[in-house]
Amino acid sequence: MTAELSPNDKAKFVAAKRAADFVEDGMKVGLGTGSTAAWLVRRLGEMVRDDGLQIKGVPTSTRTAELAREVGIEVITLDEAKWLDLTIDGADEFDSDLNLIKGGGGALLQEKIVATASDRMIVIADIGKQVETLGAFPLPVEVVPFGWQVTQRLIEEALISLDVLGREAALRMDGDAPFVTDEGNYILDLHLNRIGDARQLAMVLNQIAGVVENGLFIDICDTVVVGFGDGRVELR
Ligand code: 5RP
Repeated sequence: MTAELSPNDKAKFVAAKRAADFVEDGMKVGLGTGSTAAWLVRRLGEMVRDDGLQIKGVPTSTRTAELAREVGIEVITLDEAKWLDLTIDGADEFDSDLNLIKGGGGALLQEKIVATASDRMIVIADIGKQVETLGAFPLPVEVVPFGWQVTQRLIEEALISLDVLGREAALRMDGDAPFVTDEGNYILDLHLNRIGDARQLAMVLNQIAGVVENGLFIDICDTVVVGFGDGRVELR
């Protein structure tokens, strides 16, 4: 089946398949969002169906919840789970310290809550997501719709004082309307090019009124399973 996949999809697929090996019977597992995480959810569905794997999954978005149910994974809420053994999710960028940019799919808030409520977070990614310095991928920031333009201006002003190259905070659109997250919020994508001090930026952003959460995952990820287009997999 992987013969029909593009090299990029194959890289995502093999990373997801390898990460599924970390899932054990009886685990409560956080299920990420995005195309790589979807491979993982499908693979876990196969393991439930064919190998009798018994897990409970906590999805990080309505999309993932739908897919998980479709493939036969028992879905519970984070409150029902209370704590998770493992979360496996994709990422938009990761660096050598395993810090991440996430939220390209707009699910960063639930993704961060679920990941931080887990004993371990494994990221699955194609090699194209590896970067020396975070920031080429626009950094998603979830903001409440009320007064979002004021929040946008406050963010842009804050960026001036930080070690970043770009300053534009663009409202993410879904056709002609703003993109709305599962929590009913908007996303501002920060075009920064290069983030010098990701830890500082994450803290500064979350102090701005109107900001709900940012897509920088600092010291949250424990392992990255990296997939390559030729089917190789490496662990970081
Ligand atoms: C969604 C995310 C995704 O994990 C991230 O965007 C990667 O997506 P993909 O696996 O489709 O490349 O953070 O909010």
